[in-house]
Amino acid sequence: MLGDDELAAELGSGPLGTVDNVLYAPVAGGSSIDVPSAYAMFNEARRIATELIALPSPPKLFFLTRNAQPVVDGDRANPVHAVLWGLGRTLALEHPEIWGGVIDVDESMPAVLAARHVRTEATAGDGEDQVVYRSGARHVPRLEPTAATTSDAVLTKEGSHLVIGATGHIGPHLIQQLADMGAGTIVAVSRNPGEKLKDLGRQLASSGTTLVEVAADVTDEKAMTALFDRFGTDLPALEGIYLAAFAGGPVTLADMTDDDVNTMFRPKLDALGVLNALSLTTSVRHFVLFSSISGLLGSRWLAHYTATSTFLDTFASARRNIGLPATVVNWGLWKSLADLQTDAGEVMSNAGLEPMPDEVAIRALPLVMGSDAPVRTTVVDADWPLLAAAYRTRGALRIVDDVLAREEAANGEAPESEFRKELRECPPERRREMLADHIVAMASAVIGLRPDQALDPEAGFFQLGMDSLMSVTLQRRLSASLGIALPAALIYEYPTISSLTDALCERMGYATAEQSSAAARSGLGARAQQRARARKGAAANRLKGHVG
Ligand SMILES: NC(=O)c1ccc[n+]([C@@H]2O[C@H](COP(=O)([O-])OP(=O)(O)OC[C@H]3O[C@@H](n4cnc5c(N)ncnc54)[C@H](OP(=O)(O)O)[C@@H]3O)[C@@H](O)[C@H]2O)c1
Repeated sequence: MLGDDELAAELGSGPLGTVDNVLYAPVAGGSSIDVPSAYAMFNEARRIATELIALPSPPKLFFLTRNAQPVVDGDRANPVHAVLWGLGRTLALEHPEIWGGVIDVDESMPAVLAARHVRTEATAGDGEDQVVYRSGARHVPRLEPTAATTSDAVLTKEGSHLVIGATGHIGPHLIQQLADMGAGTIVAVSRNPGEKLKDLGRQLASSGTTLVEVAADVTDEKAMTALFDRFGTDLPALEGIYLAAFAGGPVTLADMTDDDVNTMFRPKLDALGVLNALSLTTSVRHFVLFSSISGLLGSRWLAHYTATSTFLDTFASARRNIGLPATVVNWGLWKSLADLQTDAGEVMSNAGLEPMPDEVAIRALPLVMGSDAPVRTTVVDADWPLLAAAYRTRGALRIVDDVLAREEAANGEAPESEFRKELRECPPERRREMLADHIVAMASAVIGLRPDQALDPEAGFFQLGMDSLMSVTLQRRLSASLGIALPAALIYEYPTISSLTDALCERMGYATAEQSSAAARSGLGARAQQRARARKGAAANRLKGHVG
């Protein structure tokens, strides 16, 4: 137990070699906009994780946070503790062997009660690794589709809009969008703007919007104070602030240095500290933070980035709580970034995030800024089954459970396919064999085996070389060729040719009563065998000292 001493006394402690679980529970205190504390907390948690990863038989790491995740509007919000949520999501992907989970409680919860929740979660075994306790209820995060808001934000010609990160992938689209929404003056800040915005400035001028370029570092308090002093004097009064700055790059947690963290945190956390403080004496109507869906899903090699996202997310709630405007958007992957094929882009696009055309994505801005919009919105295009399959090879990702279930329900039944017709018309005693041949042919093609290669009907697909993304491809091809909606986890549920054949016969009503109970037995038996093999594999990896 590291952190809160009172909680340590409740939980007891022992030497590291003899413990199964390690808990990092920083004390609640401090102002919610205390940027140095966020650095310190992230770095401390990172170092604990790095030390555990290096152990031959590492224990599980849990975080206990206070008000990192507001559940309802007005709920206390502590962005400093929220960095542990972003770090935890990436830890779950990079080092599932040490990831236990994160539990959030209110800062007023006495240690004796918090200790009870920690013990419950450490042994819960329900696959939930992000849990919030509020007012006696246990909450878990889930993404939910929402209807578009009805009141798009409209900007006034008389105000200034300050865009930080103006020259990146998103900056110019953001500037154009603000002009389309009616902005009269847009002040574009980046450290080295060069000539990047010259053409855009000329275009905007012809349609009545003035673009003012300022070369400044947003974390330079003096420079930003001087800029803010201009609003209401030589520039129109400030109406909106938009933080879309980014710097840094991918690195594993184990290799991450303080410099990597500083570079990533500065244009987000330090920037927010400066902008928030300077905004207090203005009457801005919009304060919009560009955050990422990576904070919700995790992103390998980007623990520092995912931590900044969750800081921003909770920071927006903290601002709203004190009566100030704030909006945060967890963006999915933009096409311009995906096209660059950077490491970060590949990590995200390979995992089922569909690149959103920039011109389309930015059109969500007036909706998320509308007067009836929630403080926080996720704007993403994703292939959810593919995304879930990819992330779940590393660990639990329960946040997508509901969107997956909706998608499966919406898929419904398709018209009868050619192969389904052949099956229906053939002699009943031939159907099982035909279906088994069909599965073999499809599985071989997906894995890349020669058509004449014989497959053992009892061998597991994953033993034969299938990976999680191939399993989704096989599930989809079977769905299409049979004309039935099949669950994304089909191949995990029925991981051999034999068990899958029985299950599909049953699903299509071709199984006899005897075959039906055999299908249930073979599915369970095959899964049990697979699990035993997986356990054996994991133990072997630990002995060899492999991680990830
Ligand atoms: N693109 C995506 O797919 C995506 C997805 C999810 C979320 N987001 C979020 O959206 C935002 C913008 O992303 P992007 O892809 O446009 O990033 P980007 O292409 O890397 O651009 C970053 C911008 O920030 C500026 N900047 C960096 N440090 C600065 C500082 N200290 N002071 C002032 N300006 C600074 C850069 O200009 P200088 O270097 O000249 O200062 C540049 O204009 C980021 O917050 C990112 O996290 C993007």
